[in-house]
Amino acid sequence: MIPLPVVKTVPVGIIGTGVYLPEKVLTNADLEKMVDTSDEWITTRTGIQERRIIGDNMATSDMACAAARMALKNAGVSPREIDLILVATVTPDMMFPATACLVQAQLKALHAAAFDISAGCSGFVYGLEIGSQFIKTGNYRTVLVIGAESLSRITNWHDRNTCVLFGDAAGAAVLKPVEEGFGILSVELGADGSGGDLLKLAVGGARTPITEENCHSPDRYLYMAGREVFKFAVKIMGECALKALEIAGLDRKDVDYLIPHQANIRIIEAAARRLELPMEKVFVNVQKYGNTSAASIPVALHEAVVEGKIKKGDKIVLVGFGAGLTWGASVIKWAV
Ligand code: UT7
Repeated sequence: MIPLPVVKTVPVGIIGTGVYLPEKVLTNADLEKMVDTSDEWITTRTGIQERRIIGDNMATSDMACAAARMALKNAGVSPREIDLILVATVTPDMMFPATACLVQAQLKALHAAAFDISAGCSGFVYGLEIGSQFIKTGNYRTVLVIGAESLSRITNWHDRNTCVLFGDAAGAAVLKPVEEGFGILSVELGADGSGGDLLKLAVGGARTPITEENCHSPDRYLYMAGREVFKFAVKIMGECALKALEIAGLDRKDVDYLIPHQANIRIIEAAARRLELPMEKVFVNVQKYGNTSAASIPVALHEAVVEGKIKKGDKIVLVGFGAGLTWGASVIKWAV
């Protein structure tokens, strides 16, 4: 076997974050009027109290651009400096072109390559790893990673099993080289495609194109086997966060702050227990936005930064799971 050369890599970190949250709020009380549900059921089973719904005249790329502009401003980076734009989403504006290309055009990021990542709710962590690899090896200096979702557009508003869970949002982060010893210390990614049927949108792809017959069927919308995904989530969140810590050479007691995917407060609490972290060290905003899939982690990260929960030198863990099935965790020593 040819031995791999030892490559000197550049440390990479997040130097700015941003979000876009639609103005329209849909509360549990609103949902009580739409399906057979109750505020009590939704709150106790999920922790969600309200979620945001994208405006009629907008799409995923518009929210992605708004979040990106805020992240670029906070990072002090101009669109012309961006080498690569990654958009993690399961609700692209169109089948193609990639939403990342639409963002590239809107931002006038003239020197940026652009493509989408389809890794469900783990998409942002996948994006961090992809983006950071380009910078680590010296190929690129600046990567914009965005998680953006218009889940309300693929929600079956007659299905109480799913319609109470999801919301729309976008979050963005700017990656750049950072001081030695800071930035992304490790990333652990995984997938188990045998669980793909547990969380999917079956109609509209090449296997089952939209037809006159299926265009009003429930298969036109997001489907989730909630209980099975729940069991998988509880197991994988802790496991993959611990693996990312191990790769970084750290222990659970080294963690200053946890930013978990915001799907369900019970899943978040289970992850915190597995990492032996008190809930004061865990960011939670699921009550305000519900599950925003790929946007969930970058939105939570941005809010944690703005609320002063994370300071330079803190070791934070981002962890998520989602459609695919996929999972991902990253340990970051905050660099700014
Ligand atoms: O981001 C990645 C993707 N998604 C997730 O992370 C979600 C993972 N799953 C979950 O969070 C939970 O499984 C749910 C919140 C979806 C469901 O909670 P659960 O405790 O697993 O409930 P369940 O599926 O076991 O259902 C319990 C009951 C059922 O009634 P029966 O069959 O026991 O009579 C459901 O029909 O609750 C019923 N139910 C509802 N009742 C009122 C399901 N949805 C609702 C609802 N309102 N909205």
